[in-house]
Amino acid sequence: MPTKTRRYRPAKNVINYVDKTARIGRNVKIWHFAYVGSDTVIGDNVMIGSLSHIDYKVRIGDNTRIEGCVYIPPLTIIGRDVFIGPAATFTNDPYPKSKRLAGLVIEDGAVIGARSVFRPGIRIGKNSVVAMGSVVTKDVPEEMVVIGNPARVAYSRQEYEKKKEKWETSPETKTI
Ligand SMILES: CC(C)(COP(=O)(O)OP(=O)(O)OC[C@H]1O[C@@H](n2cnc3c(N)ncnc32)[C@H](O)[C@@H]1OP(=O)(O)O)[C@@H](O)C(=O)NCCC(=O)NCCS
Repeated sequence: MPTKTRRYRPAKNVINYVDKTARIGRNVKIWHFAYVGSDTVIGDNVMIGSLSHIDYKVRIGDNTRIEGCVYIPPLTIIGRDVFIGPAATFTNDPYPKSKRLAGLVIEDGAVIGARSVFRPGIRIGKNSVVAMGSVVTKDVPEEMVVIGNPARVAYSRQEYEKKKEKWETSPETKTI
């Protein structure tokens, strides 16, 4: 979490809403039409993509990257070095509209695939990976990759890193 926070000033020509009670660290980029609610705390070097909705009393750790169109409900706690892919949706009300809300916890180093959806109150373990489009209904164990609907453990983060390295170094890989 940031040691020093200040009132957020958007980059030139960027229109977004950051509540005046939100505490924002250094080198934070919040892109077009994003929303940051009251009493939310954002660490250093965080990026929040366009059209993302970060509600009230959310905490986001240093170096975390949140792509566009992501929904983060009130009371969610996100660690450091987390990646959240586009249009991921976290929820906090299991039986809407109920009077009781439950935030999620996303631990350090987790990778969240695009358009994945999460049940209220669960914990996404340290350095875990959630595949694109997964429906995550239970806690995700640390250092594991989960895939599918409902999401199930497929292999380890170590195996994921091997696949990633192969992808990055393969001569056939087309890059932009
Ligand atoms: C989790 C992930 C890394 C798995 O990749 P992988 O291990 O290379 O998987 P493979 O392509 O070898 O597929 C293995 C099997 O799982 C299936 N599979 C892979 N990803 C899946 C997914 N997200 N949902 C459901 N099934 C999936 C494949 O169809 C294949 O099935 P088969 O054995 O019946 O043929 C990848 O699916 C993913 O989600 N990457 C993140 C993409 C993303 O969201 N990026 C955000 C930034 S743009």
